[in-house]
Amino acid sequence: MSVFILGSINRDLVFSVESLPGAGETISALSVNEYPGGKGANQAIACARAGARTSLLGAVGEDEAGRRLRSNLERAGVDIAGLVQLPQETTGQAIICVARNGENIIVVSPGANHAYRFERGRSLPVSGNGRPVLLSQFEMPVEAICDVIREYRTTTAMAQGTVILNAAPAVEAGRQVLDLADVLVFNETELSAYSGMPVAPGRHTEIGKAARTILGRSDQVAIVTLGEDGALKVASGHSKHFAGYRVDVVDSTGAGDCFCGSLASFLSQGQSFDDAIGLAGAAAALSVMQPGAGPSMPDRASIENFVRTV
Ligand code: RIB
Ligand code: NA
Repeated sequence: MSVFILGSINRDLVFSVESLPGAGETISALSVNEYPGGKGANQAIACARAGARTSLLGAVGEDEAGRRLRSNLERAGVDIAGLVQLPQETTGQAIICVARNGENIIVVSPGANHAYRFERGRSLPVSGNGRPVLLSQFEMPVEAICDVIREYRTTTAMAQGTVILNAAPAVEAGRQVLDLADVLVFNETELSAYSGMPVAPGRHTEIGKAARTILGRSDQVAIVTLGEDGALKVASGHSKHFAGYRVDVVDSTGAGDCFCGSLASFLSQGQSFDDAIGLAGAAAALSVMQPGAGPSMPDRASIENFVRTV
């Protein structure tokens, strides 16, 4: 495999609502749908659809939802040899409310995802001629993330590999592993949580400053995803803005996952870092025009076509 993704796999129960409910409020849903989700699985599907050989490491329960999610990943072309089924655990689930304007709120019950342990010493064999990339996010135990990154770094072939950490959701424990990554990806909310600085939309200089407080090494790069405003790449000495796309937002759930999975995919397929960021932004824009997380990940042809025609 060229891209290894360690990450969560959830069954998403999505309630479409007129607008998001406030505390103490009861509202009626316009419709309810079940979709495959979980940040790890969404990233893996995005990565495979964008054309890279992708393997997902993670856990589901030995239940009906787990079986469905496994076969859905296989159908999307994701290698699931590293996916374990844990008999004592329930497959991860998320309750999601999506408003008409595309905004969402998400509550996750991690279940099997939080019981995942990486077997130390288990190799992560790279195959095919893609550039090796490892991607993870914070819906998995931090110890497992550490173990996988260490294992990955010790394998010779991986010495040149790129480790991407999507610091989502913002969790305190995540701070311990931020330094282990070559590339950090976060949105404005996560940036504000990790930097302790307020982050206002559109203020690229401030966003860059906040991102630099998180960079622990001079060779680390941060990418801040900015929704419609695109993305900002921040390195120790400079930053670069990538324009976003104005599209009709149907459901933004998993847009960040789409960005990260596509970024890993295009890097692995030999694109330059900046080109990969541009294509990942286009992929994320395509994903918000479709309902559901997993099902909305675009394939490589659609992404390239969108970039050409928009
Ligand atoms: O990033 C979106 C994902 O977060 C959803 O699919 C949900 O399962 C949660 O993991
Ligand atoms: Na979507």
